[in-house]
Amino acid sequence: MHIVNKIINKYQTNNSLYIGEKVTMTEHMVQTAMLAELNHSSESLICACLLHDYGHFIIEDPDHLISRSIDGKHEDIAFNFLKNYFKPKVFEPIKLHVQAKRYLCRDKSYWNSLSEASKVSLKLQGGIMNDKEAKKFLSLKFHNDAILLRKYDDEGKIPNTKMKKIDEYRDLINSQLI
Ligand SMILES: [Fe+2]
Repeated sequence: MHIVNKIINKYQTNNSLYIGEKVTMTEHMVQTAMLAELNHSSESLICACLLHDYGHFIIEDPDHLISRSIDGKHEDIAFNFLKNYFKPKVFEPIKLHVQAKRYLCRDKSYWNSLSEASKVSLKLQGGIMNDKEAKKFLSLKFHNDAILLRKYDDEGKIPNTKMKKIDEYRDLINSQLI
């Protein structure tokens, strides 16, 4: 199966709920991409938003039990898969989106705005960045896109809202392949 068909198929067949939220993983990622579009983001960033939690689909895939036994984080699993097919502008912000959350939480009002589930996972993800970690994060080329992705990610959790079908993103996904 062509990679784009394979990816689209995952969104169409996976009905898992986004952990601790009232939307499915598919709905969450489509909403995140729609927010990026609404804010006039580049096609690469929209694609990154659409694919940012793709690692969860891989982890759940029975054909990928091996990757499950590896102590992988979902952003690393997505990165390792997507880098084989997509431009760095797509997979780099995905790789950094958890780091971006840890960075943004240095701002107390941002931390307050997180959902309970997101506050719980922050601890597992290493907690709030210290000064040294923040400085290193800000030196990375794609940190800005990762921060934007993260902000749309936080908002893309609205149940029962009208949203695009994954198939409507087919051309966009295609345009970001290497
Ligand atoms: Fe997410």
